[in-house]
Amino acid sequence: MSVVALVPAAGRGVRLGEDVPKAFVELGGRTMLARAVDGLRDSGAIDRVVVIVPPEMVAEVRADLGSAEDVVVVAGGSERTDSVRAGLAGAGDARFVLVHDAARALTPPSVIARVVAQLRAGSSAVIPVVPVTDTIKSVDAFGAVTGTPQRSDLRAVQTPQGFDAAILRRAYDEVGAVATDDAALVERLGVTVQTIEGDALAFKVTTPHDLVLARALLNGSGSGRELSSCE
Ligand code: C5P
Repeated sequence: MSVVALVPAAGRGVRLGEDVPKAFVELGGRTMLARAVDGLRDSGAIDRVVVIVPPEMVAEVRADLGSAEDVVVVAGGSERTDSVRAGLAGAGDARFVLVHDAARALTPPSVIARVVAQLRAGSSAVIPVVPVTDTIKSVDAFGAVTGTPQRSDLRAVQTPQGFDAAILRRAYDEVGAVATDDAALVERLGVTVQTIEGDALAFKVTTPHDLVLARALLNGSGSGRELSSCE
């Protein structure tokens, strides 16, 4: 029962303010993309990785990563959902598909293995989550508060998100909307999405502050490959 991981890495990462696309920013001498792929391999739970990169970078990334038999490189699109759709086209006859943001470069392999284990245990859709520490408000277009959801009911969602491949394909075919995570599309099919325990290290590098944090964590750990999880 093959497991294919899609790694969307085609975003420009404007909020990060670097001069290369976000996934190609280096953390401790390796790109975020390379670190994300390493984490997937190190989990021992993934058979193949499909990396989705900006169209103009396909040849370069193939030269860097694609020589390995277990990695395929394809061109992404303008929205994240377009990039995941392009990756799905390259996922072949996978039984399970994981979608893992390159920007979550420090995700511990144990989180990845837990997602796959929960799929193998029978869940159709699995997402790693962590508790929310801030109180979250909804607001209207003018900034006025419209509600305060109970914090204990809320979770912050990470990747990799894991799916029965047929269900994720159906979500992309039938729902077809732009979404900030893949589980949202699957939820709209009425499929139950199961949460499992995520890890603070699976944070998404989005802002310059996140980049400082990621580099400090790697510096503090020496080589950076042996970060201990925050569980
Ligand atoms: O922009 P955001 O931080 O939500 O991006 C999450 C992940 O999706 C990143 O790894 C980014 O490279 C990827 N992405 C993509 N194609 C896009 C936009 C984002 O592969 N068009």
